[in-house]
Amino acid sequence: SNTTFTMIKPDATGKSYTGAILDRIVKAGFSIKAMKWTKLTKEQAGAFYAVHKERPFYGELVEFMSSGPIVAAILEKENAVADFRKLIGATNPAQADEGTIRKEFAASVGENAVHGSDSDENAAIEGNFFFSELERF
Ligand code: GTP
Ligand code: MG
Repeated sequence: SNTTFTMIKPDATGKSYTGAILDRIVKAGFSIKAMKWTKLTKEQAGAFYAVHKERPFYGELVEFMSSGPIVAAILEKENAVADFRKLIGATNPAQADEGTIRKEFAASVGENAVHGSDSDENAAIEGNFFFSELERF
């Protein structure tokens, strides 16, 4: 499909990287369909990352994702899910390619600056978590 979902995570908003990251995203050819500045409660972060419930880092992930403001957005581009994952780079910034957003802006595997959906199905679920049809243009 041609849409994906992203969040700029609390580490990146806290370091004032929001503008620079959005600039990278738009310059890579993604257009913004929906966007909001918000903050997740622990309950919301836990629900969003429920697929990782059994992973050892789940508690840390939920704490971190509810620790400060985020930017949530639905992005549009041909081949959006795969192209966006390529743009952000590996989960662990130490393994991320040169030129990727995580290489440039992420500090660690836990605090890695951005989220990108991993499938068309999850892009739809995640976009629906944050946005109604009336918030998409
Ligand atoms: P997302 O785009 O955020 O979903 O990242 P990803 O798809 O590259 O990684 P994955 O879905 O496997 O993990 C989700 C998130 O959990 C990661 O982005 C990290 O923020 C966090 N995470 C993954 N592995 C670890 C880990 O070993 N330690 C900690 N603290 N956090 C982790
Ligand atoms: Mg993931």
